[in-house]
Amino acid sequence: MDKIQEALNQAYVGEAKAALRLKVYAQKAEDEGYKQMAKLFRVIAFSEEIHGARALKVLKEIKSTEENLAASFESETQVAEVAYDQFVKLAEAEGNKEAVIHFSQSKDVEETHAKLYKEAMSHYMEERETDYYVCKICGYVADGVLPDECPVCGAKAKMFVAFDT
Ligand SMILES: [Fe+2]
Ligand SMILES: [Fe+2]
Repeated sequence: MDKIQEALNQAYVGEAKAALRLKVYAQKAEDEGYKQMAKLFRVIAFSEEIHGARALKVLKEIKSTEENLAASFESETQVAEVAYDQFVKLAEAEGNKEAVIHFSQSKDVEETHAKLYKEAMSHYMEERETDYYVCKICGYVADGVLPDECPVCGAKAKMFVAFDT
């Protein structure tokens, strides 16, 4: 990676992190009743996303949808099997229960992401329509049917949001 690519990559990672942090800040402001502050955090988050996406485009990392599905499948598998797997072991060794739950549930969810990509790759030419429901606790993505209970964290159906964008 040359110096410009490194800088672009750093910009992409930094902007992506900032956007997520600001969205969490916005939710916190919302919970505390600061509507305008929440809006401010959200609009800056959106702007940071534009920066991050632009850096990715300048990096020429955006390929065809078929290639993007394959890359996403690879990355989910890697994250689940390597990164989160190590994190779970680390948190267990340290006795940090909250982190153990977070890492192990995230690992399980990443595996289901990989599965969703794999299915999408095999249906690539016949784009099927489906609705998704997402667990607000662990991020589990249910395809087509709202479950009574989250298969990863056990949250009840009311903790799921219907995802329609
Ligand atoms: Fe994932
Ligand atoms: Fe869940």
